[in-house]
Amino acid sequence: MTGRLHGVVAMDGPSGTGKSTVSRRLAAACGAAYLDTGAMYRALTLAVLRSGVEANDPKAEHVALAAVALLESGTDPDAPEIRLDGEDVEPEIRGPEVTAAVSAVSAVPAVRAALVERQQQLIAGATATHGGIVVEGRDIGSVVAPDAPLKVYLTASEEVRAARRGAQDRKAGRTGEPGAVLADVRRRDRLDSTRRTSPLHAAADALVLDTDELTVDDVLAELLRLVQDRGLVS
Ligand code: DC
Repeated sequence: MTGRLHGVVAMDGPSGTGKSTVSRRLAAACGAAYLDTGAMYRALTLAVLRSGVEANDPKAEHVALAAVALLESGTDPDAPEIRLDGEDVEPEIRGPEVTAAVSAVSAVPAVRAALVERQQQLIAGATATHGGIVVEGRDIGSVVAPDAPLKVYLTASEEVRAARRGAQDRKAGRTGEPGAVLADVRRRDRLDSTRRTSPLHAAADALVLDTDELTVDDVLAELLRLVQDRGLVS
């Protein structure tokens, strides 16, 4: 029997590592809140695309910053809603247009600063009401919640991550053509890990978990063991 989580669990790593699925399941299993920070970057990217401004255009920064005020992020692991000006933008934020443009928008320092501040407020609110929260992203352990008592960095080879992403896309009714998915995984990895502000990397004190050979259930079992061992549930 798992108790309730106290404090923040930071879940970082590239896409296709199973991070979202295990983060949500961990939060649900421990009665904790859940925050998907990638969804926030995606929603701002959608606002940019809808405005007709190219993601690489300097004007994108202003559109994205204006959209921060319109953004609402739910923290319920069973139904994490993401709203832009009141409109539920899931699943549009998972589509290929947003996926292709999100790295450019999330590389803009002012956009990151605004979202990090918003994420820290959400984390403070959720820990006050729920006691604990599982937060997933790319810079949670390094920037957003550097004092988190548990930081996990999930990895997997490019091929395994592309295969998982492709299967997810096909399940959601998108093409998920293997060559294109692998190329997109490589492109996003390169952009996310070479940007100047908060590039994707494991925090020095993060526990790195290679998921190539692990199922979602295996990873979840390992995370549950870690939160128990560290005295984060009671
Ligand atoms: O986790 P995801 O694939 O939904 O994230 C979408 C993009 O947002 C990803 O390419 C990198 C960016 N991102 C980020 O820069 N920092 C975060 N904390 C979360 C996501």
